Amino acid sequence: MTPLQSALLLAFSHLAYAEQPSAPAPISAPLRELPWGQLNFLHTTDTHGWHGGHLQEPQYSADWGDYISFAKHLHKRADEDGSDLLLIDTGDRVEGNGLYDASNPKGKYTFDIFKHQNIDVITSGNHELYLSNSSNNEYYNTVPNFKQSYIASNLDIQNPKTGELEPLAPRYRKFTTKNQGIRIISFGFLFNFHGNANNTVVQPVQETVKEQWFQDAIRIKDVDLFLVAGHVPVRNSEEYDLIYKAIRNARWDTPIVFFGGHTHIRDYRKWEKAAQGIESGRYMETLGFLSMSGLNSEKKGLVVPEKSGLSYQRLYIDNNLHSLHHHSGTNATTFSTDVGKNVSQAIYQARNNLNLDHAFGCAPTDYWLSRAPYPSDQSLLSWLEKSVLPDTFSGGKTPSIVITNTGAMRFDIFKGPFTIDSTFLVSPFTSGFRKAVNVPYKAASQVLQLLNNEGPILLEDLLALKEQGLDTMGTHRLDDLAPPLPPVNLATLIDQSPTKHALFRSEQQSPIEGPGVVSDKPNIPGYTTVDDMGSDGDDTIHERIKFYDVPNCVGASVNFDPADKTGAPEKIDLVYNEFVQDWVLLALRFLGVKYEKEDTRSALDGKTMTDVISDWVGEHWKCEN
Ligand SMILES: *[C@@H]1O[C@H](CO)[C@@H](O)[C@H](O)[C@H]1NC(C)=O
Ligand SMILES: *[C@@H]1O[C@H](CO)[C@@H](O)[C@H](O)[C@H]1NC(C)=O
Ligand SMILES: *[C@@H]1O[C@H](CO)[C@@H](O)[C@H](O)[C@H]1NC(C)=O
Ligand SMILES: *[C@@H]1O[C@H](CO)[C@@H](O)[C@H](O)[C@H]1NC(C)=O
Repeated sequence: MTPLQSALLLAFSHLAYAEQPSAPAPISAPLRELPWGQLNFLHTTDTHGWHGGHLQEPQYSADWGDYISFAKHLHKRADEDGSDLLLIDTGDRVEGNGLYDASNPKGKYTFDIFKHQNIDVITSGNHELYLSNSSNNEYYNTVPNFKQSYIASNLDIQNPKTGELEPLAPRYRKFTTKNQGIRIISFGFLFNFHGNANNTVVQPVQETVKEQWFQDAIRIKDVDLFLVAGHVPVRNSEEYDLIYKAIRNARWDTPIVFFGGHTHIRDYRKWEKAAQGIESGRYMETLGFLSMSGLNSEKKGLVVPEKSGLSYQRLYIDNNLHSLHHHSGTNATTFSTDVGKNVSQAIYQARNNLNLDHAFGCAPTDYWLSRAPYPSDQSLLSWLEKSVLPDTFSGGKTPSIVITNTGAMRFDIFKGPFTIDSTFLVSPFTSGFRKAVNVPYKAASQVLQLLNNEGPILLEDLLALKEQGLDTMGTHRLDDLAPPLPPVNLATLIDQSPTKHALFRSEQQSPIEGPGVVSDKPNIPGYTTVDDMGSDGDDTIHERIKFYDVPNCVGASVNFDPADKTGAPEKIDLVYNEFVQDWVLLALRFLGVKYEKEDTRSALDGKTMTDVISDWVGEHWKCEN
């Protein structure tokens, strides 16, 4: 080995401990400055197992270890200037990335990786509660790991040892910040979620705010700030509006700060001058930063110049080393801390043990979920409909229509290796396929249209039917499995009452063209957020990405040509993702064909969408050496 080679090797083995070794280097981009204040917050939400960062997207390539190093530098800054820093996480830490999903049992590595960050307020999301195994993991791991900070204001769990129902964690906490002595009452909520396994109980927020403990907590004397963290969207949220009103009924002017999640967007909401809150995106793409100044403080000595009156500021930090170095005043040499390096190393080790980089094949191009129009050659849904479903289901020779909800697809496919990791990102859900056999063609051919809310009968009609109790829906994992950006998605709609639909039809964030975004030669496509504070919230000045609407469901005709009117089969098999079974059967009933669950059969030997995709990729996408 030449001296140069050994120097390079050394450089690489060193690099291996800051972000993941295979992570792409971030591209430098113009940045906005961190609006540091008297009380500062870093907020993560909906990380869904992406604690290893995004290994195919430079913009989001820092990992949980880097976040630990970053927080350490900001804590130091707070200690030096007498301000404070608190860390918040609002749930959905699990499900959606191989680092969590690929291990047996699931989450084998996640809890030990996650626990090294010092989080001050942490709550549960709905994804922690779908399976009793995962809520028991909270009970056995995350709650004890965050003994001083886990809060469960409206969540009970059956003690796995005694079977007795008990609060998963304390209902609220009172604490005082380290440097400023700001006295805080904090709550930790989950939205009114119904899809949980039967070992947990989520109390509707309208009941929780009536509880004596809550009414007492909001009347505790000498409080400088109410901190409401929760797996609850900040916008169009009945739950947060109720909490806001309840606190204001008892305390007309105490400042309130909200931290939200669940809808996977960057957002900032102003209820009023003294009640505001942030939502910090998804999948470790975003570290949300919020600062407050002008709060009552027990201690003096803050060096940060104080503005008159109360103020809030926010910044959505792109989770990459370029941003993290900049905002912490460090560089590649000074950034990583020992704990941070160790955690990056642990993630690397776990990814290795799980063989997450094993490639089934290589994607010839990028396929987008909502960044390309549907249908088109670059659309992941078109690829599914035109290639994957027909190739997979044509074996039996029976004419079939195969339907899947687009919410079953969760992420884009990038040109290059399609790995074990990719399968979990693209389609992490474990439901298989089922079929109704010998369905009259005329009815079967209208199901897709109906599910996509396009025909003479609308999804609203189906929902109305459901409301009238004409169908008995079981417990489902249906409520939030949608990708965040498509405005309408069956999976999102299903667990919502019909009155809430408008919410999911409205444009969410990124697609909106912001008025007067400061343009300092944006060169990287990414979030261009517009929220209640304006259009200057993203730390990186991005080029706007256009997002397209996608249908609720896509479908393929297999072993027959739907355009051939004369040769149309009389009866076909209707195959669908089990996830949408109730909707498919309801649609059939609406079309005059009655099938019960018991009349349907398992299809494809129980293979899941994840299996279908990885098999197809292995067969069709070769890697060139
Ligand atoms: C649930 O946890 C138990 C005990 O750890 C394990 O045996 C079982 O396989 C888990 N079930 C699932 C679906 O992961
Ligand atoms: C909870 O669900 C499990 C698994 O579906 C079932 O076996 C059990 O009987 C249910 N318990 C109650 C109290 O409903
Ligand atoms: C990083 O910062 C330190 C301390 O400010 C400085 O001594 C060092 O030269 C910098 N390293 C690089 C690679 O810029
Ligand atoms: C990092 O890991 C090493 C080896 O496991 C351990 O000896 C050391 O104490 C760890 N350092 C920190 C700061 O956790």
